Amino acid sequence: MGIEGAANQRFDTVLMGRGTYEPGLAVGVTSPYPHLTPYVFSRTLSRLDPAVEIVSTDPVAFVRDLKRRDGAGIWLCGGAHLAGQLLEEIDELIIKRYPVVIGSGIPLFRAPFLPASFTLTDSRVFNTGATLTTYSTSSTPQK
Ligand SMILES: NC(=O)c1ccc[n+]([C@@H]2O[C@H](COP(=O)([O-])OP(=O)(O)OC[C@H]3O[C@@H](n4cnc5c(N)ncnc54)[C@H](OP(=O)(O)O)[C@@H]3O)[C@@H](O)[C@H]2O)c1
Repeated sequence: MGIEGAANQRFDTVLMGRGTYEPGLAVGVTSPYPHLTPYVFSRTLSRLDPAVEIVSTDPVAFVRDLKRRDGAGIWLCGGAHLAGQLLEEIDELIIKRYPVVIGSGIPLFRAPFLPASFTLTDSRVFNTGATLTTYSTSSTPQK
């Protein structure tokens, strides 16, 4: 893609649940984002790639610790189970939508019902019908 060796501009870290990491593993990819520092959350998986750390501790505490370190942004790649636990740590949502209805699927967040408000900060519409919408946190979920 011509990005090899390019400096990371926004993110230098990626977080994945085991369910998000596994589709790549199934086709032999043990480090799907080699330009980022990857952490995979799992209580069952062993380390398969020296570059990919497996985390079995509390995701919220782990992310709060990451945020205290120097570096660029943290990309929460997914999936729903991990994102549901990290909802209160999310500062920005970047949502891609395509003009396709598939009828069912995996939600963005698997979490208890608890509305969280975000503020629209950017929106792009492509002539394919795809949209890219950015929201920032305006309030955090109440416990
Ligand atoms: N379209 C997209 O852009 C996109 C992006 C991301 C994911 N996805 C899709 O979403 C699906 C996966 O989402 P998902 O919600 O099923 O799974 P997930 O959130 O990716 O992973 C769930 C797994 O993460 C581990 N985990 C979760 N909480 C943990 C904790 N507190 N401590 C340690 N480990 C923890 C557990 O693994 P163990 O059972 O091993 O303990 C759990 O089974 C896949 O089909 C993927 O392709 C799509």
